[in-house]
Amino acid sequence: MAVREIKEEVYSVGVIDWDREVFDELIPLPDGTTYNSYLVKGSEKTALIDTVDAGFDEELITNLARSGINGIDYVIINHAEQDHSGAIIVFLELFPNAKIIASEKGADLLEALHQIPRFRIQTVTDGETISLGDRTLEFLITPWVHWPDTMLTYLREDKILFSCDLFGAHYACSDLFVPEKCYHSTLAKRYFAEIMMPFRSKITGYLDRLSEYELSVIAPSHGPCYDEPAYIMDLYREWSSDLVKNLVVIPYISMHGSTKKMVGYLTDALMRRNIQVRPYDLGKSDSGRLAMDLVDAATIIIATPTVLTGPHPRVANIAFIANILKPKAKFAGIIGSYGWGGKTVKDLIGIMDRLEVEMFEPVYLKGLPSEGAYNSLESLADEILNKHKSENIL
Ligand code: FEO
Repeated sequence: MAVREIKEEVYSVGVIDWDREVFDELIPLPDGTTYNSYLVKGSEKTALIDTVDAGFDEELITNLARSGINGIDYVIINHAEQDHSGAIIVFLELFPNAKIIASEKGADLLEALHQIPRFRIQTVTDGETISLGDRTLEFLITPWVHWPDTMLTYLREDKILFSCDLFGAHYACSDLFVPEKCYHSTLAKRYFAEIMMPFRSKITGYLDRLSEYELSVIAPSHGPCYDEPAYIMDLYREWSSDLVKNLVVIPYISMHGSTKKMVGYLTDALMRRNIQVRPYDLGKSDSGRLAMDLVDAATIIIATPTVLTGPHPRVANIAFIANILKPKAKFAGIIGSYGWGGKTVKDLIGIMDRLEVEMFEPVYLKGLPSEGAYNSLESLADEILNKHKSENIL
């Protein structure tokens, strides 16, 4: 990645990982990602804000050399996850007098994850500042976006917020600033859905706090920067709110066709009632697309056959993920078909125990769906319609 100047003597020096396909061995990255790192030169001191993923340290060091620094006084680690702290050990060796700056929880994690000696770390508290001479860094302790250690760094004189994971997008992009809002919004929403959604209430509070700050640029740790901070903050306010849309998502698997017939019938029944619906065949679907719809959906209907005694493992997996992502859906249901028995409905309800949803009566039947099954799906569609009306989203 080239060195780019954000403002005078403030540089983007991170790297682009064009080819990364998956994050945390879980999250698909169809557009790669970046590990952003920023250099701030003051009249007396120089700070590096976040490093890069392990394996990209040479590139980061090359970028720093190009930016003409004599040394680094502070390495600010906003968040200890390895995609931002992975190159830290190299910096400790290269700059033996540099202090690492982190939150208290960040210091604990850096010690645990990298075995960094504690005397190299200076912890900061909420609102604390560090002077670089003519520039001031202010730290905002903001746990759970998305680890307990997270903090944001605000460069007061230039009004730049270095927001680490918050407001990021997994997007390998050569532009310094968001080049095209429509495309970027989709990627930022995908990132929000997969990483930030469980922390909606925290984010709402942080947005309120940030409204007291004048911001000219938001510089996140993944994806391009924002020269119109209000654009991403408005999107985050919408995504973090409790408002749901007239949308039903139906993640499903069908082994021999019965569950698929039920999904097809329910999809049609909902469309006839002017309800938006999106079935996802979990054998083929992009989990990121499903996660994005979970940001908005008022209702989730899970559809599965029974495998031996319980839900199909792919469905159980998505129910588990939905449970930890804690989408804002208000209603949920289970439909599907079994061969000879089992406790699929009970197992699925147990897996989704953290979802604060009102459950519909399951439509779970033996073998091929009959006329009675289709009547039950019509009734389910009516119930969904009534619930959506009660939420004033129709
Ligand atoms: Fe981009 Fe939580 O690391």
